Amino acid sequence: MKMQLAALAALSAFALSPAAHAATTWNTLTGEAPIVVAHRGASGYLPEETLGSYELAIKMGADYIEPDVQMTKDGHLVAMHDTTLNRTTNVATLFAPRNGRYNVGDFTLAEIKQLTVKPTGALSQPDSTYLGFTPTMPDPYKVPTLDEVLGFLKNYNTANGTSVGIYPEAKAPFDSVKEQKIIASLKDNGFTTAADKVILQSFAYQSVANLTDLLDMNDMEAEVAQLGSVRLQNGVYGVNGSDGFWSLDQIASVATGVGVSYTGITEDFIKAAHNLGLKVHAYTFRPLKEDEAFAMIQPMLDWGLDGFFTDYTDLGRTVVDANAPAPVPLPAAAPLLLAGIGGLALLRRRRKAA
Ligand code: G3P
Ligand code: CA
Repeated sequence: MKMQLAALAALSAFALSPAAHAATTWNTLTGEAPIVVAHRGASGYLPEETLGSYELAIKMGADYIEPDVQMTKDGHLVAMHDTTLNRTTNVATLFAPRNGRYNVGDFTLAEIKQLTVKPTGALSQPDSTYLGFTPTMPDPYKVPTLDEVLGFLKNYNTANGTSVGIYPEAKAPFDSVKEQKIIASLKDNGFTTAADKVILQSFAYQSVANLTDLLDMNDMEAEVAQLGSVRLQNGVYGVNGSDGFWSLDQIASVATGVGVSYTGITEDFIKAAHNLGLKVHAYTFRPLKEDEAFAMIQPMLDWGLDGFFTDYTDLGRTVVDANAPAPVPLPAAAPLLLAGIGGLALLRRRRKAA
């Protein structure tokens, strides 16, 4: 009886142990860890969409780096969020406006290469420094071409044995020439298989569909995400992109996931997307402190979010790592449990012998 009580006590201890309740797998579509996407690089700290900013983001633990893609007057692809150059660069001090503005498409690559990107992040320094970080490339804060971003990433992964991915955005509106050039650039730089970890994205459904077609035509493997805001329309979940509302069903026919504004994400939306095999990535978390990062991101990880864009890769990494599933735990009371079971066996043998 003493041994039976010991076994019972051990079982109860296992049942009550917090470790016994820890998740043993991620709650994502694939069961893999949610991805941390460095939104425009480490843009909260260093000039956005520059090689220096991408390098810092990788050192902070980014799973993917994100360039937005615009096209110059002479047809080159550059990493640039805005359609104009004046918010993020010193163009106004070097050039006069063209057509009344500083449109990327009115400047040649040679002209854009004269510019320097300015720090705009909330936690950036005016001299574009980040304590303890020295970029490894010359001129780290120039506007890079997409080819240069891909070349940098390929070299970084090779030199460091890492497998950081890239999440390029074909900026809306739909532009088949730009989209063909993005695919060609990926192909030229050796990003053609699933192992190269490419996710393409656009706010335009037409571009998402076109990018998927182009990947197929070129026998390339990559994920594709429809961007926009979460909408529930007539009881049907979908995404409002730059060219209208698209149901999750429609999106699932051309894409592998959605990238949606975090403000509209609910547990039901994630479930609906997962039911159709779509991943859900959230944009854009901009917490300035760790407690803010947990408050913003944690609930959505609990719901099964598959990844998120953030200007602060380090804070995003901290939140994801804190959620890493525990290995299947050996209960603290295991020795006691084994002793109890052993004791019961002994008791049975004695009774048999008696
Ligand atoms: O691409 C995801 C997110 O970056 C969308 O917003 O305007 O920063 O490109 P935006
Ligand atoms: Ca983007």
